[in-house]
Amino acid sequence: MGFETDDTSYDLYMGRYSRVLAPPFLEFAGGNSRNELRLALDVGCGPGAVTNVLARRLGPDAVSAIDPSESFVASLRIALPGVDVRAGVAEELPFVEGRFDLCVAQLVVHFMADPVAGLAEMTRVTRSGGTVAACVWDHAEGGAPTSRFWRAVTALDPGCAGEPRRAGTWRGHLVQLFESTRLTRVEAGTLTVRVRYSSFDEWWEPYLLGIGRAGEYVSRLNQSGRNALREKCREELPAGPFDISATAWAARGVVA
Ligand SMILES: C[S@@+](CC[C@H](N)C(=O)[O-])C[C@H]1O[C@@H](n2cnc3c(N)ncnc32)[C@H](O)[C@@H]1O
Repeated sequence: MGFETDDTSYDLYMGRYSRVLAPPFLEFAGGNSRNELRLALDVGCGPGAVTNVLARRLGPDAVSAIDPSESFVASLRIALPGVDVRAGVAEELPFVEGRFDLCVAQLVVHFMADPVAGLAEMTRVTRSGGTVAACVWDHAEGGAPTSRFWRAVTALDPGCAGEPRRAGTWRGHLVQLFESTRLTRVEAGTLTVRVRYSSFDEWWEPYLLGIGRAGEYVSRLNQSGRNALREKCREELPAGPFDISATAWAARGVVA
């Protein structure tokens, strides 16, 4: 799935969740302690929700970030000029062994072509005693930001499989992936965040931007299909200001 979109569209769709998820995720990863951390890597950085927090806490010179999306890489280089932002994938990290104290991937493992290879690379570039951490939305138990959307889709279109069963998105699987690497002291976490919408339209309109699998689904519908889906979603949500809560499975481990 491609992530060649502009930061504003991404922010309306998913960035608003990843920005509020980044601080608790870094707390879970142990990324708050300036004393113990010198260098950190944000894998699959996107427009920089996690990179921004790391750069504020550790200083931009201490932070590297990498993503295959050229548009995200270009905009993050402008937004955070002191950060070393690279184009590339988790499965082939262009860094020497043991370089980082902390290596994190927020909402990325399920998009990796080979999650085991990606986590092995994150482990390789982290020093012995350093931490590798990741989190992925709970798609399997309906805790993802897009879960209400997919419930409405499958009610109208029972043949649609909805959000695919990607790596790490069901309970316990992210930890299992971590345990397949040479990480030790692997621990699981559950992170829940809330995002406020002032109206139903503010929630619905990002689905018209064509981003991600949900956006692709909407863009394939004709106008009456879109209207029907919009009405179904509206039935599921309150009219006025409301909060959507979203839950991510998290895992962390220490490099042997
Ligand atoms: C949902 S976004 C998350 C971005 C950011 N971490 C955040 O929390 O907002 C997923 C990101 O993973 C990136 N990505 C996809 N495949 C990847 C891979 N194999 N290695 C590293 N990043 C990847 C995408 O380009 C995209 O920026």
